[in-house]
Amino acid sequence: SKTARKDDDGVLHVGGVAVPDLVADVNTPAYVLDEEDFRSRARAFREGFAGYDVYYAGKAFLSVAVAKWVAEEGLCLDVCSDGELSVALRAGVDPARIGYHGNNKAPMELRRAIAAGVGRIIVDSFQEIDRIADVAAQLGVVQPVMIRVTAGVEAHTHEFIATAHEDQKFGFSISAGDAFEAAARIVRQPSLDLRGLHSHIGSQIFDTSGWEVAARRVLALHARIAAELEHAMPELDLGGGFGIAYTTQDDPAAPGDLADRITKIVDDECTILDLPRPHLSIEPGRAIVGPAMCTVYTVGTVKQVSLDGGASRTYVSVDGGMSDNIRPALYDADYSCSLVSRRSDAAPVLARVVGKHCESGDIVVKHEFLPGDIAPGDLIAVPGTGAYGRSMASNYNHALRPPVVAVRDGQARVIVRRETEDDLLATDLG
Ligand code: LLP
Repeated sequence: SKTARKDDDGVLHVGGVAVPDLVADVNTPAYVLDEEDFRSRARAFREGFAGYDVYYAGKAFLSVAVAKWVAEEGLCLDVCSDGELSVALRAGVDPARIGYHGNNKAPMELRRAIAAGVGRIIVDSFQEIDRIADVAAQLGVVQPVMIRVTAGVEAHTHEFIATAHEDQKFGFSISAGDAFEAAARIVRQPSLDLRGLHSHIGSQIFDTSGWEVAARRVLALHARIAAELEHAMPELDLGGGFGIAYTTQDDPAAPGDLADRITKIVDDECTILDLPRPHLSIEPGRAIVGPAMCTVYTVGTVKQVSLDGGASRTYVSVDGGMSDNIRPALYDADYSCSLVSRRSDAAPVLARVVGKHCESGDIVVKHEFLPGDIAPGDLIAVPGTGAYGRSMASNYNHALRPPVVAVRDGQARVIVRRETEDDLLATDLG
């Protein structure tokens, strides 16, 4: 993160706080969240995507404090579950600035969201159209909705497939005509207000052509709905997915550059289709919180394991693992790490950092050069764990999920505390 630096003694400071001092209070593993970094990335998206609404995707990481920062920085909030909605409402986020996603929202969940005045619900199925219409009618309100469409674009990191098959659970297919049919049904419902279309093409994307192709396809549908249903939709959401650098190989574009490219395609296409340009929105999660957080672990054991051919590998075990970051095991995701509690001039060794769980796939960092004298008690930090780290953490092996400590201007504040054994046993009724 931006305020992270190592002093001459090799001690990492984040937000003006020395990490060894911080973990002396809260213990390890711990997530350290650089508040200024989070806020500045949020601002960079709001300013770079000027004229857009920027919805922070809470699934990447959400807590009451973070929801407040999001609102203070002028962003809206995307939630995709009842639990995330609870956090947003607890934080006092204006419900009108909340978007609600999900492919299977329960009727009770819809009722709560609509009663709370959620600004938009992103509709994902024909059944849901009727459910939302019924609840809104019962509550005597007109609910703004958007249609989640599949644009036939699938993007992953550096590549995208423009003819991606649509065999996945989200959204209404544009090519099969379902998305148009959904619009036709929604405009017939007096308790629904069809605000626009919504497309999300994937996550951890670097190549803007995916959004560009999706925008063209979605705008063509937008124009068809305007012409054939005589319904002008004021909005268009192009989703999230903006990539971040986990290792040094990736180089994400600045939000302003991304915005310029995407806006130009939308403008050109609207001119061709003779449409007024809809009000645009995006939903970045990872790109705002990912780089703002690191995870700090304590080394517990160091072991040499012989490999075929006579070589050996250094296995460094830490006090967390796949319960606080499932991404290496689930997606084969790459991270880096370094020693952060002291300086070492020992020659580096190529090490594998692993967790303490009962699975050999419990890897924290696959390959990293660490000082050859790495030893029990040393602290190591893994940067870039803010997105889908704590939010996908589990209690596997009855692990206690780690705290999130926000640091800023030399102050540390626990915004999510460590779970306790009582938390763990509270649901176990014996
Ligand atoms: N909007 C929608 C509708 C989404 O489904 C997502 C992510 C986002 C926005 C935010 O995407 P972001 O900007 O954070 O890439 N667990 C996976 C990522 C799953 C993303 C799901 N949807 C991971 O750890 O890589």
